Amino acid sequence: MRRSFYRYADSVLRVAVEKDEAVIYQTGAVITSPLEELESGRANGFIPGIDFSATGRPGSISIEESAEGFVIVMKLREDQGVFGLGQEIGPLNKRGRIYEMYNTDDPDHSPSKTRLYSTLPVFYLISPEGCTGFFLDHAGYSKFDVAFEKRDTLLINVEGKAFDLYGMSGTPGEIIKKIFGLTGKPLFLPVWSLGFQQSRWSYPDEESVMYVASKMREKEIPCDVIYLDIDYMDDYKVFTWNGERFPDPRSVVKRLKEMGFKVVTIVDPGVKAAEGYRVFEEGKRENVFCKKEDGRDFRPAVWPGEARLPDFLNSKARRWWGDLYREFVELGISGFWNDMNEPSIFYTAESLANLSEMMKGLKNDGGIETDFLFGKVLSLKKYYDHGRDFYQVDDAGVRHLHRDVRNVYGFNMARAVFEGLKRIRPEQRVFSITRSSYAGIQRYAILWTGDNESQWEQLLSEIKMVQSISLAGVSFTGCDVGGFGGNCHGELLARWTQFGAFLPFFRNHSAMGTRPQEPWAFDDEIERIVKKTVELRYSLLPYIYSVLRDSSEGNSLMIRPLVMIWPEDRDTYQADDQYMFGPSLMVAPVYTLNARGRHVYLPGCDWLDLNSGEIVRKGHHWAEAPLDTVPLYLKEDSLLVSTEPSQYLESAVWSLIEVKGFVRNRTVFDLYEDDGTSEAYTRGKYSLKRITVEKLDDGILVDISPQEGELKLPARKVSIEITDGDKNYRTTLIDSSGGVRISIK
Ligand code: GLC
Repeated sequence: MRRSFYRYADSVLRVAVEKDEAVIYQTGAVITSPLEELESGRANGFIPGIDFSATGRPGSISIEESAEGFVIVMKLREDQGVFGLGQEIGPLNKRGRIYEMYNTDDPDHSPSKTRLYSTLPVFYLISPEGCTGFFLDHAGYSKFDVAFEKRDTLLINVEGKAFDLYGMSGTPGEIIKKIFGLTGKPLFLPVWSLGFQQSRWSYPDEESVMYVASKMREKEIPCDVIYLDIDYMDDYKVFTWNGERFPDPRSVVKRLKEMGFKVVTIVDPGVKAAEGYRVFEEGKRENVFCKKEDGRDFRPAVWPGEARLPDFLNSKARRWWGDLYREFVELGISGFWNDMNEPSIFYTAESLANLSEMMKGLKNDGGIETDFLFGKVLSLKKYYDHGRDFYQVDDAGVRHLHRDVRNVYGFNMARAVFEGLKRIRPEQRVFSITRSSYAGIQRYAILWTGDNESQWEQLLSEIKMVQSISLAGVSFTGCDVGGFGGNCHGELLARWTQFGAFLPFFRNHSAMGTRPQEPWAFDDEIERIVKKTVELRYSLLPYIYSVLRDSSEGNSLMIRPLVMIWPEDRDTYQADDQYMFGPSLMVAPVYTLNARGRHVYLPGCDWLDLNSGEIVRKGHHWAEAPLDTVPLYLKEDSLLVSTEPSQYLESAVWSLIEVKGFVRNRTVFDLYEDDGTSEAYTRGKYSLKRITVEKLDDGILVDISPQEGELKLPARKVSIEITDGDKNYRTTLIDSSGGVRISIK
């Protein structure tokens, strides 16, 4: 059976498809139902940017039923790029590859991989003529063949009985707002989440944590957060401490706090199956663990050995889980790191039995057969799909095969943590990071990209991946700086830190067994470069925090792919190794070994090279970038607001402000400040000041508006440095809650 849907998506179009039934809604209202009306052609129109002429029905997306579920077919025009799809490997333009939506813990992020930890099925068809955005809302398996099999066809196989497809038109900037409207606005984070963060699997005891913290302060490398990985626990039992290695966790956390550090602990969903262990016993009593078909607990093995998985699909389990965080919060832990929540499963008794069976086939003289089998045995652990091994139950009491709802497991874990923390400390903003996610995760947590490797190729891969993730509306994201697996190299750490400094989430993390990766682990020159880069990050915090705020209001992304801003310029479709960080700053990280520069594309206007101070024209350029330099450009008619870097962040009110601008006409920047951690801003305790800079015939006009909001601002020095490309204008003034307006000749 073949269904065709065609409708002009001027706002948000939703096609809700079930077997034999489809309903189309537009911005909430049902616009066409039942299906026959669509087929009779009454719902006429087109979705701009998609040429359906090949199907003979201009403006249609065809949806066919298949043995596994459905097939969605979209015809692509030659000049259309397909962008988005979240956490995937490869170029930002997704044409020419296969992508699977099925959350998977795979530490190998090499180019052949088609799926990783998250499902973010938001994609954009962009051509110089127009743009359409889509969100495939489906918690089960789907596979996107983006012009791979047929170079002009996007084919989506959706497994299961139903899905929703949303369509949106507009500019990419308008579409992202509609995505926020559908899936939720990014949460507003504490200011210290923008600080530099240091992690390692593991700092296994009190001494090693204190050593790292003291080193940071001694060397005056700004740092706000230290992480405790799985070894702080007793036998990998979540919500416990290892009494030998951390005899007095409260005092460690207190001492770190006095030094200006926040502590974040890892929490995995796998609850060790151990008699007498409180979390296990409680979970059994509350009946919140995932079950097998016969109603008995599903028993996977993860870090702690045999474990149970909370069934986060229902609110009872979420509530129970969220409340478990209370003790850690009361002990002073500031944030939580949700890991292994795809969920990752090492093995089960059944898969081990399978393995033994397979091993029987390994014969000494088996030749090629044994060799193949060997390969299969080795890959069994990583790629074995447990999706059909257990079930989850939703709030309506409906039982779902895990495979059908797998992609929202990590999402619902993050939701449980968010809601729990909001109950436990309603006045504090939530800091929680997650490895697995689904579209909408921006409401609950920060998404980091998991176990990358210390390879130059992966540094480039991350530059692209964070942009694809952002396009799904997941504004606050980042990756393990320096690379997680493998041994990092000094030059790689320097270059990766230069990229990390322009990511929302900026954390150095590395795996057990790899060489140390802290800023001082290489040589003096590398340490100097890392320190200088981290200081640059801290100096830009007034700008970055304001960008964070704007994003949390659902207005914009923090990381902006060039194609989002200049969709009419085809060169931006390829320029995916650079991006805008906020509205003003172009970042072009260096990602090759022994490089002393790189190619940069500057679209749309003239740019101010922040390293040389020169004006650079729109177009393709070579940027000089010795090891201590990251190519950075300020867009024409835009501003940067910075301050003196500090060692750590106590609030988001800046006592010194520097406004730097490249202004030929007029520009504005909204500077947002508040206490940096609490919810008081929701009751008016914030300051929003609009900084306007305008070029006059005989100089520059600077206007800093009186503040919106009731936060008491100190009188502070503002230094201003504006260029119009020919002449530089400088002055200093004093600003507080009131406004200031001056012209500089
Ligand atoms: C997973 C995480 C990694 C962590 C490790 C140990 O591999 O992705 O970040 O360090 O587990 O907990």
